[in-house]
Amino acid sequence: MTARIRCWKAGPTEISCHFAIRHRIFVEEQGVMVFTDMDRWDENPSTVHVVAARGAQMAGAVRLYPLDDEGRWKGDRLAVLPDHRASLVGARLVRFAVATAAAAGGIRMEASVQAPNARFFERLGWCRDGDIGSYHGLPHQPMAIDLLGVPAMADERPGSIELRLPVAQSAPSPLLAVS
Ligand SMILES: CC(C)(COP(=O)(O)OP(=O)(O)OC[C@H]1O[C@@H](n2cnc3c(N)ncnc32)[C@H](O)[C@@H]1OP(=O)(O)O)[C@@H](O)C(=O)NCCC(=O)NCCS
Repeated sequence: MTARIRCWKAGPTEISCHFAIRHRIFVEEQGVMVFTDMDRWDENPSTVHVVAARGAQMAGAVRLYPLDDEGRWKGDRLAVLPDHRASLVGARLVRFAVATAAAAGGIRMEASVQAPNARFFERLGWCRDGDIGSYHGLPHQPMAIDLLGVPAMADERPGSIELRLPVAQSAPSPLLAVS
């Protein structure tokens, strides 16, 4: 049976998993950032931290925040754990981020994506929005999507199930009880 994929806005119980997933991908796997990938946007009260679960395992994360008061939003830190890739978790996270920004009154969403992922975003309705530039030493493609008319997506926070963050070689495995 195909494991169910759910996305929801991380609450106090899951926020550590959101950060742990990002750390595993951007610091440990890709080495794009050194020591931490957290920045000032994580402390901004308008920032939305999203997690995804596949079955009973935490599988991915994404972050989004408004850039101004006129409807510009930005999405970043899209990360799917290796064991859950190619299972449509990433696509669901991108759609959830877009729907969340639209529901918050956003008009346009922007992202600076790793160049090899530009096609992935295009398949989800995004357009290239300028020339490739460098971010943390890697080529990144600016992308954008219109948010007007984007339908809402339900926040699929699970009920009473245990969500496990898969064990990584260099990180402990927190066990969450969500109720
Ligand atoms: C990029 C990433 C988020 C994709 O997540 P994922 O869960 O593996 O992707 P999905 O399973 O949702 O893929 C959806 C579709 O896009 C395709 N796809 C995935 N990555 C792609 C890529 N880089 N280029 C083109 N197509 C891609 C998949 O084959 C799938 O196609 P299908 O619908 O025909 O089956 C994931 O590989 C990841 O976390 N990578 C490391 C971190 C990273 O690069 N983050 C993004 C920074 S911009």
